[in-house]
Amino acid sequence: MAHTAEFPATRDRIAEVPIRELAETFGTPTYVYDLSVVGKRIDDLAAFDVIRYAQKANSNLAVLDYARRRGVRVDAVSAGEIARALAAGYRPGRQPTEIVYTADIFDRASLEAVVKYDLLCNLGSPDMIEQYGQAAPGRGIVLRINPGFGHGHSQKTNTGGPQSKHGIWHEQLPECVALAKRYDLRIVGLHMHIGSGTDFEHLAQVCGAMERIAVDYGIEVRSISAGGGLPIPYRVGQATIDLERYHAVWAETRDRLARRFGHPVELEIEPGRYLVAESGYLITEIRAVKRMGDNLFYLVDAGFNNLARPILYGAYHPISICPADGRASTDLVEAIVGGPLCESGDIFTQEEGGFVSRRSLPAAKVGDLLILERAGAYGAVMGSNYNSKPLAAEVTIDGGRPFLARRRQTLDEIMQGEAIPGR
Ligand code: LLP
Repeated sequence: MAHTAEFPATRDRIAEVPIRELAETFGTPTYVYDLSVVGKRIDDLAAFDVIRYAQKANSNLAVLDYARRRGVRVDAVSAGEIARALAAGYRPGRQPTEIVYTADIFDRASLEAVVKYDLLCNLGSPDMIEQYGQAAPGRGIVLRINPGFGHGHSQKTNTGGPQSKHGIWHEQLPECVALAKRYDLRIVGLHMHIGSGTDFEHLAQVCGAMERIAVDYGIEVRSISAGGGLPIPYRVGQATIDLERYHAVWAETRDRLARRFGHPVELEIEPGRYLVAESGYLITEIRAVKRMGDNLFYLVDAGFNNLARPILYGAYHPISICPADGRASTDLVEAIVGGPLCESGDIFTQEEGGFVSRRSLPAAKVGDLLILERAGAYGAVMGSNYNSKPLAAEVTIDGGRPFLARRRQTLDEIMQGEAIPGR
């Protein structure tokens, strides 16, 4: 059942571990993932035949290993993500299809990897069919379809419709089916991911399009994939998705196709955000508190090099304060939260379009910890070395025990591979 979200203004523990202890042990900024939350989100999706984790949301090896041990399969979008899946213990091959490659192109490294490891591929362009057919004729493939419409939490995450580069345009399907036949590639599955975020009217349209395509083109699918895009609440009062209803709509489509083709059809779901977003906290330290006219700024030691979602999409992350001395202030102030980067857009409290906004937060001082919450998805993975800042440390907590899943990058590592001529 759906419920609405609440967030505390102050927080002193994550999964029972004191946040001050985490900051002392691992330094700041540090991402902390409470794996018990990932476990609960996996359990929520038990009704689906296959849960395939879209690791682009968080590909830390310890997170992948945790998902794998709970029976979750994995999606990879690059040679690098294939290497991560293998390093985390996922097996190559397609019996069963533990790793699937989904993309709109094969770069040369990924084509080599999918052939070498015999991975099922979810193809998002006619050129991919051509290249895969030449490299590995006779295999099974999945086609990712762009049904001509889409949906997303922002323009940049909408992955359907004519403005999107993703998937095979629905009108091009006849030539793609012919192309597959030419290389003896069997189409064993259909996939549609049309954006992050979902509403039920839209979902019915997607399912209808999926079914029509399978029936009209006689594609006797063994699996259908609903893609990812399950939303999570980021703001107070936002509701969680009604998963029973979501599953029921897809399960009807699956069952109708199974009856028509006379063999079982598996229903896959491919969530990224849903599995990991809520588990993640970015712990930062307030290093300056300053006034600019009427505005109060908290400047912390993490920037958009660590968490890019606010500057990219105007994304909202709940923020809490963990006071250094353990005495939480009950006074609320209106503050703007920014980072250390030499760029005025380095602000965590901003709307889409770059408009800076104030947030009601507890009064805080230099040395207090500021926690950016719900940062487990598309946080660390979108980190960069801008301003020569190291990638943050990542810590998992499982059974109350913190584990350093990625140590903070060193300055030497940032410069590794660079050279000066003549030296
Ligand atoms: N499957 C495919 C083919 C996808 O392209 C994506 C996301 C997913 C699954 C997982 O979607 P999710 O369940 O996580 O919504 N960086 C953006 C999100 C980009 C999503 C890209 N594709 C953000 O921070 O919101």
